[in-house]
Amino acid sequence: MAALVLYLVVFLLAPFLSHAADPDPLLDFCVADLNASPSFASFPCKPTSNVTSEDFFFDGLMNEGNTSNSFGSMVTSGNVLAFPAVNMLGISMNRVDLSPNGLNPPHSHPRASESGVVMKGRVLVGFVTTGNVYYSKVLVPGQMFVIPRGLVHFQKNVGGDKAVIIAAFNSQNPGVVRLSSTLFDTNPSIPDDVLSQTFLVDRNTVEGIRSNF
Ligand code: GLV
Ligand code: MN
Repeated sequence: MAALVLYLVVFLLAPFLSHAADPDPLLDFCVADLNASPSFASFPCKPTSNVTSEDFFFDGLMNEGNTSNSFGSMVTSGNVLAFPAVNMLGISMNRVDLSPNGLNPPHSHPRASESGVVMKGRVLVGFVTTGNVYYSKVLVPGQMFVIPRGLVHFQKNVGGDKAVIIAAFNSQNPGVVRLSSTLFDTNPSIPDDVLSQTFLVDRNTVEGIRSNF
């Protein structure tokens, strides 16, 4: 009897447990009304009578991002907040610009897997599994990579010229957790002793790192 109940519970819940990506769309499109409050991370639709061709095209990834910062990188997002037409479609894209030696620092996306293609330059792409295995490769234009959902990854320009990557996500709003700022640039701060215990360093070292952010 217990086995039967267990079987029924697992069988009935399976479709819900496996529903890991954004929900499937119920309409042809639902261009987000960004002035309305989102529910479950989707926005209500703009009235169809106000939708034009312009809603379905986005030039936000055309322009080079400004990489004059301490990482030498810039991520330009084409998520639902930038490109409202992806609302309810479960997809989005980013452009990553990297100056020579620039780094898109280790981060993860809690709501999406990422695939990407190097458009320009030579880029070291790496990610780490939950078992601490590091996978990496240097890619040249036309080569593609994939980062499984939630895993920590980075891209570093290892060529002499600027590099560009276009990345695609199976979420309209993948979210990003940047390891360095998640730990050292929070508001309010994570207590120094928590970080010194975490990294097995003294508190001065923690404060030294924090002061860089
Ligand atoms: C690259 O990893 C990106 O998240 O845009
Ligand atoms: Mn990423």
